[in-house]
Amino acid sequence: MSHDAGAPANGTAARIVEPIRGTLDAEVTLPGSKSITNRALITAALAEGVTTLSGVGLSDDTRAMIGALSLVGVETEIAPDETTLTVHGVGKGLRSPERELDANMSGTSARFLLPVLGLIGSGTLTGHEQMRARPMATLCQALTDLGAVVDGESLPIAVSAPVTGDSVSIDASVSSQFISALLLAAPLFPNGLKLTLTGTPVSTPYVSMTIAVMESFGASVQGEDRDSGQVITVSPTGYSAIEYEVEPDASTATYPLAAAAIVGGRVRVNGLGSNSLQGDAAFAERVLVPMGARAFVDEGSIEVRGNGLLDPVGVDLGDMSDTAPTFAALAAKADGVSSVTGIGFIRTTKESDRVQGSVDELNRIGVAATVDEDGFTVTGGVHQNATVQTYEDHRMAMAFALVGLTGGPVTIHDPSCVGKTFPGFWELLDELRATARTTPRVLAIDGPAGSGKSTIAKRLAERLRLPHLDTGAMYRAVTYAVLKAGVHLDAADQVGQAAVDAEIIMRANTVVVNGENVTTAIREAEVTAAVSVVAANPEVRRVLVDAQRAWATRRGGAVIEGRDIGTAVFPDAELKVYLNASVEERARRRAAETGEGDIAAMAKAIAERDHLDMTRETDPLMVADDAVEIDSTAMTVDDVVGRVADIWAHGDDGQQGQQGQQGQ
Ligand code: DC
Repeated sequence: MSHDAGAPANGTAARIVEPIRGTLDAEVTLPGSKSITNRALITAALAEGVTTLSGVGLSDDTRAMIGALSLVGVETEIAPDETTLTVHGVGKGLRSPERELDANMSGTSARFLLPVLGLIGSGTLTGHEQMRARPMATLCQALTDLGAVVDGESLPIAVSAPVTGDSVSIDASVSSQFISALLLAAPLFPNGLKLTLTGTPVSTPYVSMTIAVMESFGASVQGEDRDSGQVITVSPTGYSAIEYEVEPDASTATYPLAAAAIVGGRVRVNGLGSNSLQGDAAFAERVLVPMGARAFVDEGSIEVRGNGLLDPVGVDLGDMSDTAPTFAALAAKADGVSSVTGIGFIRTTKESDRVQGSVDELNRIGVAATVDEDGFTVTGGVHQNATVQTYEDHRMAMAFALVGLTGGPVTIHDPSCVGKTFPGFWELLDELRATARTTPRVLAIDGPAGSGKSTIAKRLAERLRLPHLDTGAMYRAVTYAVLKAGVHLDAADQVGQAAVDAEIIMRANTVVVNGENVTTAIREAEVTAAVSVVAANPEVRRVLVDAQRAWATRRGGAVIEGRDIGTAVFPDAELKVYLNASVEERARRRAAETGEGDIAAMAKAIAERDHLDMTRETDPLMVADDAVEIDSTAMTVDDVVGRVADIWAHGDDGQQGQQGQQGQ
C-alpha cells in the first residue's frame, strides 16, 4: 500500500505527501546521473566501436538523447533491467538525419546534440514547447563563429553546413551546458578546439564533469588561465569506446539526504562519494551540515544523520544550482531566516523559473519567502496543505514533496513530472517511509563514577555514528542552576522547580543552561559535591528523563551514558552495558583527570557518591537484568570499545553468563 495516498504515481492529478512518524533508517540506491549519462551517450556515440554504459538511470531525458542519436546512425541497446546501455559508436561516420531530432524537455540533449549536427553539417533539432523557450542563442552563435551555418536562435534550429574553424569565445555566465556541448563535440572537429570563456562562469563543476567524461573516453583536454579569460584546448583525437560506470545522480541524492535532516534519523546513499564527478555531491557538507545535520562521506557513500531540527543558513548555490528547490524545502523547515544567492541565472535556463517558482509555492503553503536579486529568502515556519504547482519541473515536485514529510501534508500537482529524471521517486519516498522507526536505537551505558563511561561512550558514538548524550552533564547543569540561584539543597520543591525552569541545550561537547555555556563550570568541585543530592530529587529526575527520551527519539538513536539509562530512561534499549571498575582504579583515573593528589580521599568521595546514587529512592544506580557487565579495571579503552562495538554489531557471545544482552 502506498503511504502517499492520492493519485497513482503515473497520474497527472495531485498526490498527497503525508508526514512520516518516527525517524528514518534507510540505505538507498539511486538511478545513475542523468548529467553523466547524457554526456557519456555523446562520447560513446562519437567513439569508434561499442561502449557499455552501466549504472544508467533511464528517464525521459536520457531516452530523448538515445532517440535523437539513433537518427544520426548511433544504435543503442537497452538491457532488460534498463541500467545498462550498449552504444554502437560511429566516430566520424555520423549520418545526416532524415527526420528532426527531438530533445523533448531535455536541456542537456538540446545543447549537446546541436554541435553534433555541427559535425554532420545538416539536420534540424527541435523539442518540447518548454524547451523551445529555453536559451540556445549563445551556442548557435559559437557554432556560427566556428563556420557552421545555423538557422534559428531557439528550437527548432537547422544546421546546413559543418564546423570548420577551431577557435571561439563564449560567454560562460549563462549556462555551462553551452561550454560542455562545444567541448563534447570538439575531439571530432577538424582541428580540435580552442575555447575562450568570458564572463563569470556558472556551474563550473559541470564543465569539470564534462572534461572528466571526455578524458575517460580518450580525449585530450588542456585548460589555462589567461588575462582574456580561461582557455580550454581540445585536441582532435576522437574518442575510444570503453566500458563506463555511471555514478548515481547527486542532484537526486539531495532529496533522500535532505529527508534525513528534515525528518531525523539517517539516510545513506550508496555509490556516491568523495570522488564524485558531480558538484551536487557536496550538498550534504555544504548545506545540510551548516543547517545542523551530520554528514559522513567516504569513497563509496554519503550518509546524513539529522535530528529534525534545522538551523537557518545563507548559502551561495551558484555551482550547484539544481539543488535550489531542495534548499527551499529545507529553508521552510529551518528555525529562522535562510537565503540562497548566486542562482539568478537559473531563472531562464532551467525547466522553470525555480527562483520565482520556489517563492510562489512556499507562499502558497503559507511559508514567507521573497525573490531577491540573485536568489531568494525564506522565513521557516509552519506550513499549510495546499496544492503545490510544479511547472512540469521534476525538481520542483521532488523538492516540495520533502515539505510534507513533517508538520503536515502537502499536495503535489502533476506528480508524474518526476519521470523526467527519476520515475521511481515516489517509490523511493515510500521506501524511506517504510524504514521509519518510532523507537530510537539506544546503546545505554550505565555505571558508577569514574568507570570510564564518558570516554567509552564518546568513542562508541563516533564509531557507530550515533550522537552521544552525557546525562550526568544534564544533572550537573541543573545543579549549577540551583547553586547559581542560591537555592538551598534541602528545599526539594525549589530544586525541582529549578529543573522545570532550566533551559538545557546539549550539543556535541557543549552544555548550555539558561543561555550560559557551562561546559567547564559543571565539572567544578562545588557542582560535583552537590550533584548527587540534586539528582535524587524526583521532580528533577522526571524532567530530565523526559528530556533525555525526547533528545534521543528526535535523533533516531544515541549512545547514552548515565546511571539509570538501561533501567529507567530506555528500558527497551537495544544494548545495555553496565561499566564498572574497582573503587581504587576509578579514584586513580579521576585523580589523573583532575590533578588531585590524594587518591585515598578521592576513593572515599567516589564511594560516598556511589552510595548516594545506589540508595536513592528514585531510579537508583543498579545493574539492569539484561545488561552486559564489563569490569574495565584491567582493560584498555580500546578493549572496552571494541568489545561493546562487537556486541552492538553481532550480539553478545554468551561469555557474560546469565547476563546476555537482548539486542536484535
Ligand atoms: O556521570 P557524572 O559524574 O557526570 O554524573 C553526575 C551525577 O549525576 C552522578 O553523581 C549521578 C547523577 N546521574 C544520575 O543520577 N543519573 C544519570 N542518568 C546520570 C547521572
